[in-house]
Amino acid sequence: MEKKNIDWSNLGFSYIPTEQRFVSNYKDGAWDEGGLTADANITMSECAGVLQYAQTCFEGLKAYTTEDGRIVTFRPDLNAQRMVDSCKRLEMPVYPVEKFLAAIDAVVGANAAYVPPYGSGATLYIRPYMFGISPVIGVKPAQDYQFRTFVTPVGPYFKGGAKPITIRVSDFDRAAPNGTGHIKAGLNYAMSLHAIVNAHAEGYDENLYLDPATHTKVEETGGANFIFVTKDGKVVTPKSDSILPSITRRSLMVVAKEYLGLEVEHREVYLSELKDFAECGLCGTAAVISPVGKIVDHGEEICFSSGMEKMGPVIQKLYDTLTGIQMGRLEDKFGWLHEIK
Ligand code: PLP
Ligand code: COI
Repeated sequence: MEKKNIDWSNLGFSYIPTEQRFVSNYKDGAWDEGGLTADANITMSECAGVLQYAQTCFEGLKAYTTEDGRIVTFRPDLNAQRMVDSCKRLEMPVYPVEKFLAAIDAVVGANAAYVPPYGSGATLYIRPYMFGISPVIGVKPAQDYQFRTFVTPVGPYFKGGAKPITIRVSDFDRAAPNGTGHIKAGLNYAMSLHAIVNAHAEGYDENLYLDPATHTKVEETGGANFIFVTKDGKVVTPKSDSILPSITRRSLMVVAKEYLGLEVEHREVYLSELKDFAECGLCGTAAVISPVGKIVDHGEEICFSSGMEKMGPVIQKLYDTLTGIQMGRLEDKFGWLHEIK
């Protein structure tokens, strides 16, 4: 199969339509078979549940070309399960795990020419999503739904790739206690748009959100979880019921312990202790691990000793190991890779 003529190494994180996407409809209480289509557009009622009350959730994962030329996804079963959790919380019908996995294989397989080559620095981002498509005017769940998955080749999420970023402590909250922060609901992202536009306008790359109840504990950013490294090399990651359970973060905790022999702590992290950490990074499918050089808390600068030029040594090791597994350079000890044949 011949790859598309794309300048892979200079891709940013933006949408490039590809040839095929997967669509399945839920009507009269059941999902249809679903299938691939070349049509990238959706026609729906002006009163669709997604348009009126934002009844939508999504997932994000990637396909990689390994060193030996296979096309693989990384732990897609965890994305399937997280979408089940999102659907339940949003009163949407669950899209069955097996169907989700088959849909991803079908879309990636049909767009194999868009999976960036090994070593190009790019990957194929996969975006499964679901939304209420039938009319809703009283506040209640829609009757009918659509599940779709498209793919798009992407480069680094943050411009500059592996260069450390600067983030600020946000005065806006992302998720309420007992709210929807732990699921991948579109509404969590809609409410973060004002905060991110404002952060960019003030020269910051991202927002660090605090727990909304006390504003003393670190939660996450708009699109990634945090990992910190202590001065004695321990990996620390925030625990909270209102942050998204990142698959990258959960994998990194295993990588740190089982591949690198590091101590790992998953616990509440206070804003007041950030100054004591040596390294900081953002982790997620899109972010991979993006190093953070500086956090600004209302004018007070917290500078990590790893600096603004390159990743700190522990974050670098985590990055190399995780991407080494994903690209097939290192042993996949836990069977995380799923090959698309
Ligand atoms: N946190 C938020 C708010 C996100 O949007 C994402 C991206 O999916 C993550 C964390 C990272 O999750 P994952 O590693 O599963 O991509
Ligand atoms: C992902 O990493 O898949 C996300 O959904 C994050 C988003 C900000 C692109």
